Amino acid sequence: MKEALQSIKSLADELVANAANEQVIEELRVRFLGKKGELTGILKQMGSLTAEERPVIGALANEVRNAIEEDIATRKKQLADEALKIRLTAESIDVTMPGVQPKQGKRHPFQQVLDELKEIFLGMGFSIETGPEVELDHYNFEMLNMPKSHPARDTQDTFYITENILLRTQTSPMQIRTMEKQKPPIRIICPGRVYRSDAVDATHSPIFHQIEGLVVDTDITFSDLKGTLEAFIKQLYGAETRVRFRPHHFPYTEPSAEMDMSCFKCGGKGCSMCKGEGWIEILGCGMVHPKVLENCNIDSEVYSGYAFGIGLERIAMMRYGIDDMRLFYENDLRFLKQF
Ligand code: DAH
Repeated sequence: MKEALQSIKSLADELVANAANEQVIEELRVRFLGKKGELTGILKQMGSLTAEERPVIGALANEVRNAIEEDIATRKKQLADEALKIRLTAESIDVTMPGVQPKQGKRHPFQQVLDELKEIFLGMGFSIETGPEVELDHYNFEMLNMPKSHPARDTQDTFYITENILLRTQTSPMQIRTMEKQKPPIRIICPGRVYRSDAVDATHSPIFHQIEGLVVDTDITFSDLKGTLEAFIKQLYGAETRVRFRPHHFPYTEPSAEMDMSCFKCGGKGCSMCKGEGWIEILGCGMVHPKVLENCNIDSEVYSGYAFGIGLERIAMMRYGIDDMRLFYENDLRFLKQF
């Protein structure tokens, strides 16, 4: 019996020490120490021993049980330590590795220029309006002195949803919408997207952006228009910038003009940017036509006003010295990141 106990111990020692995982250990525990296990099997035979032998074998059996329990505890700890070590190596962080810098977004150059432009006009007491891009023919043309037969419509073909609903070709309809809902004094700008049936090239896009301006009050004169627009351009492009006004025609202003600014690149000497002219056309403007005021129930004998329309693309191209408008729309990060 003594030998049997000893051989159980040495077998258990060896098997437990080599157990590959917790599950194997548990199987061994049941095999040696369980109710139907090998050690219990031996103890059941104790009855056949003499009175002298019994305490000796009993003590030995306890010793073997304790030894196996200890083996099991030791092996379990070993396995846990190994597992921890493996995890620590696997999850180790190399603090000397360079970090991953999060990518930071930026405002599109249009948005940057528009924000600057808004600031300038807000500073001069203007407020900002917005209006629908899907517009009525009535507002886009009719109320602006461009009846159905008017030749000025030829250059402003657009997408018609119905005969009288279209994608606006200009932000000018916002002049009418504003005057209909608000009585003078009026001092607004209205930035927004406009649409024309134009093929894409370096200076044209079927979708582009304008900023409309409208001022209506008593005693508004052409000199108010000139002073305000000159102040605007100087703030945007620098105090040394000069402006000039050329007579033009728009059906909704009288008189009408186009404003040029001295070329920001050559200062007026003539270069590739201004095509040797020294001047760059920047916006259309004029005194609001009395008929347009009357269309909106504003007494043209009492009130007068001026209006202007700025092309955002043009302003942004000048600002950043870009000669191809398509770059703005391609969303190529290598381009956009530069601003
Ligand atoms: N609507 C004109 C265009 O799209 C721009 C313009 C010119 C707007 C003169 C105005 C203005 O308000 O007075 O070409």
